[in-house]
Amino acid sequence: MRQYIIAANDEERPFTRDQRRWVYASAKKQNNYFGFGTDNDLEYTAGYPVIKHRTFARAVPPSSPGTSREIQVPCAKVIGAARGRPGAFRPNSVVNISAMSFGSLSANAIEALNRGAALADCLHNTGEGGISRYHRHGGELIFQIGTAYFGCRDADGRFDLAKLKDVVAGAPVRALEIKLSQGAKPTLGGLLPAPKVSAEIAAARGIPEGRDCVSPSRHAEFSDVDSLLDWVELLAAETGLPVGIKSAVGDLEFWCDLADLMRDTGRGVDFISIDGGEGGTGAAPLIFTDTVSLPFQLGFARTYRIFAERGLHDDVVFIGAGKLGLPDNAIVGFALGCDLVYVAREAMLAIGCIQALKCHTDTCPTGVATQNAWLARGLVPDVKAERVANYVKTLRRDLVKVAEACGVEHPGLISTEDVDILDTRTDSTPLHEVYGYTPDMGLPSEADRKEIVRLMTDVEPQGHSAPPSSSAVG
Ligand SMILES: Cc1cc2nc3c(=O)[nH]c(=O)nc-3n(C[C@H](O)[C@H](O)[C@H](O)COP(=O)(O)O)c2cc1C
Ligand code: SF4
Repeated sequence: MRQYIIAANDEERPFTRDQRRWVYASAKKQNNYFGFGTDNDLEYTAGYPVIKHRTFARAVPPSSPGTSREIQVPCAKVIGAARGRPGAFRPNSVVNISAMSFGSLSANAIEALNRGAALADCLHNTGEGGISRYHRHGGELIFQIGTAYFGCRDADGRFDLAKLKDVVAGAPVRALEIKLSQGAKPTLGGLLPAPKVSAEIAAARGIPEGRDCVSPSRHAEFSDVDSLLDWVELLAAETGLPVGIKSAVGDLEFWCDLADLMRDTGRGVDFISIDGGEGGTGAAPLIFTDTVSLPFQLGFARTYRIFAERGLHDDVVFIGAGKLGLPDNAIVGFALGCDLVYVAREAMLAIGCIQALKCHTDTCPTGVATQNAWLARGLVPDVKAERVANYVKTLRRDLVKVAEACGVEHPGLISTEDVDILDTRTDSTPLHEVYGYTPDMGLPSEADRKEIVRLMTDVEPQGHSAPPSSSAVG
């Protein structure tokens, strides 16, 4: 009732009605335009990001707004290249599906996301709950390793390297992500209650069926940055895959130590996924979702700077998460130095989530976040796979169109100078000043920039304007 009758377009949280309408319409390939002009209060909203388009520039936008939905927008960096990992690869999509386990989401939801990832040629992060048969529908995977080592543990819950190698060899896993923390509940373990531990969930996780399933709050395989890096190198050497970490940002000492040790020892993570405190979860205590860990922009910028100041930013792929499935947020993320973005709840919206906010109760009315077979039955994977793919493709298309408005060929080439943050009605501050960046921070290396321009202009001819007249001057 509240959302249909009372709420205004920009009132609902975490996603406003406008934001949800944009995702729903994009997912259904319906008209996702808005009429009359913005209803945002940009004259009076401090912190509002403004993207500064260029009048003349080298990248000319296609004339039709409908073009380029099918365009590939690959990552501007190759994950794992800097450390010569045998499985180094260039992700085909700058937008990818974030970690959400089978267990927090239904089997049909996981299958829809995986099929959708295949259709959109993007990566699908398994979440910490292991790989199930619903993850095997063509979408390539990032296998997440959480504190409970689900899917790669022995009967006592200890990490089992042989199992990890088996699981990685038996599925299209392109990279490993060690989960240190999640924005919505950093350093907090979890509990999947016994009634939710079905035979299929138990099999995916490698745990007994029908018993409470506990995730500890911290890892047992390492206890400081040095031993974390040893473990990263072990996993990379044993699997050949790029290895990254996912974390929310709180105390910065961890990140300084990590960057210092990477610089001094040559060991290192291939990618870093930063999750904002505004990020989602299946279930968490209010104090953690509301107050623990920095919001995305602050946390990401502080972390990125630590690596950039040590000259390490070109060797690491940076992934952002935290409402970055909306084009405006994503653009600020790319300007700050993201190479890829993860989308979690926006992908849930695309497969039918109505933001009923009952994910923690197992009564999700849309079948997305429940293990109740009757509720999940209504979510038809084939139909929803198309929707999630349409949504990912539309977001990618919008990111390219904004990049072109800024005069560059790829969202990763948008710089912190291309974005201002409004302070008041009469003043704004460039993004690099807000976050203490030097002007070149946030961009890929010159070699990576050249290569991504080549890749983008090879696949999509630039400029579809009218032919110049005989008296044209430039
Ligand atoms: C239902 C649900 C389950 C999640 N499960 C995991 C998980 O297993 N591992 C993890 O690292 N993050 C998990 N997350 C966090 C997301 O991967 C993501 O980082 C966060 O929601 C921010 O992205 P968003 O704003 O696009 O939702 C989960 C989020 C949701 C909503
Ligand atoms: S519809 Fe509600 S309960 Fe279901 S996934 Fe969305 S927010 Fe969670």
